[in-house]
Amino acid sequence: MIAELSVDDMYLKMKAMLGDVAPDFELRYKAELACEINRIKKKKNAVILGHNYMEPALFHSVPDYTGDSLELSRKAARTAADSIVFCGVKFMAETAKILNPTKTVLLPSVEAGCSLAASITAEDVRTLKRRFPGAPVVSYVNTYADVKAESDICCTSSNAAAVVESLRASTVIFVPDEYLAKNVARETGKHIIFPALGWPPAQGGDTGLDYQLIGWRGRCEVHEKFTVDDIERVRQQFPDVVILAHPECSPEVVEAADFSGSTSAMVRYVERTAAPRYLLLTECAMGDNIAAANPEKNLLRLCSVRCPHMNRITLEDTLASLQRHQHVIEVPEEIRVRALQAVERMLAIG
Ligand code: 13P
Ligand code: SF4
Repeated sequence: MIAELSVDDMYLKMKAMLGDVAPDFELRYKAELACEINRIKKKKNAVILGHNYMEPALFHSVPDYTGDSLELSRKAARTAADSIVFCGVKFMAETAKILNPTKTVLLPSVEAGCSLAASITAEDVRTLKRRFPGAPVVSYVNTYADVKAESDICCTSSNAAAVVESLRASTVIFVPDEYLAKNVARETGKHIIFPALGWPPAQGGDTGLDYQLIGWRGRCEVHEKFTVDDIERVRQQFPDVVILAHPECSPEVVEAADFSGSTSAMVRYVERTAAPRYLLLTECAMGDNIAAANPEKNLLRLCSVRCPHMNRITLEDTLASLQRHQHVIEVPEEIRVRALQAVERMLAIG
């Protein structure tokens, strides 16, 4: 839990972390916003969950808990606060509502979506199930509630392979991230196919063919942009760099990197090792956040690739969210109860 600081103390804290990259007047303005957020948060008995991709001034000042998708889902499930302000994207806020429906869940910006979540509909999943009858459906947590409701179990980047293996099924439908699916297939030694859309469901289904994972061609608009060429060029200039890639990157990029893991796994890797420098192939704010908290670490950045959705969440919008009680996330009960099963099965696996 973040202690409630005075504006002066918040400013000094921000200055210690960000004083080399942000001018004083900006830090003081952000410190004032952060303190007002923390004041209203306390008054309204709200909890703020902050994904690892939040910008550093927000990330290090207002969330009661920070973390990756899985860690924040666990916090959302357990909180006793009256409301949850989710500094992340819509599918994360929806997952919080699915897990803790009596709480008011607020998302500071309605525009905080996700290209993966937008890549598949509940009807797409139903079509896959008709085509591959009996195959359990694993949906990445980066999906909307109605897709989760059609799924047997969810997964996040930190437990995807464990979830697939837990099913002990000969064939598993894994949606919607093409690259995460390929990375899981590689890790678990499974053969993956990507069925074409627009087919008529095969008579009696397509069971018995030689595949174990059935994927979908959704992509993260951020991670799909990193290339092996990027890695080679960075290594040429900085031969001692250690490169970490999120599993939403292509399998070629993951293979060429030194480490792959969820956003929190990447943070822990940097904190627990002592390389001369690191490059994180993920949303750029992660590098800023680690550098702010660990000034002795040297982090390169590839900041031309940003998540436009995560970047919608600002201190200003977080304050407005608390002040005006916006934007309330609702999930229809009939969808929520089915989605809850899939999310709870995932949480039981860890
Ligand atoms: P994590 O679950 O690793 O935090 O990833 C969420 C995400 O949206 C990555 O782009
Ligand atoms: Fe979605 Fe990619 Fe943004 Fe993560 S980084 S929220 S997967 S668009």
